[in-house]
Amino acid sequence: MNSTPTSKANAPTTPVAKTQTAPASSNTTKTDTQIAYVNGVAHPIIQGETILAMLRRVMGPEPVPTLCDAPNLEPFGSCRVCSVEVALVQDDPSKVMASCHTPVANGQFITTHNERMKRLRRNIVELVLSNYPTEQTGRRRTMVPTSYTTWCNRSVQHR
Ligand code: FES
Repeated sequence: MNSTPTSKANAPTTPVAKTQTAPASSNTTKTDTQIAYVNGVAHPIIQGETILAMLRRVMGPEPVPTLCDAPNLEPFGSCRVCSVEVALVQDDPSKVMASCHTPVANGQFITTHNERMKRLRRNIVELVLSNYPTEQTGRRRTMVPTSYTTWCNRSVQHR
């Protein structure tokens, strides 16, 4: 009987990535397809698209919380609840940017969720709620509930 090692024993020990991740020098590489990295995964970008629009395209309808974003308004970046971290070089210091208002660009490294973003969003929401009269969070007959008032009512109930 031949006792040569099986192919498993000769298999490479280096793990194979399941998703495409950012190469070390990706921000300096010229390619035909422009890409941005969302939480470390490469995605093609569409010129003129905002970061939030791209996130919705690749992550689903609610990739990050929003407050002032509305389909019938031009993005104006007022509340900053949709903020994400954006770096131009992987693992370099990032800037916090309003995703609904910032155009996506080739080679951006976008982080949607981490402790810093959670804390920032929580602080913003607390500031908004602290300046919102509780008597106005109740539903009035003439008032069409918006996502904002629904959100305020839920938040007031949990105080
Ligand atoms: S949703 Fe308000 S700044 Fe983006």
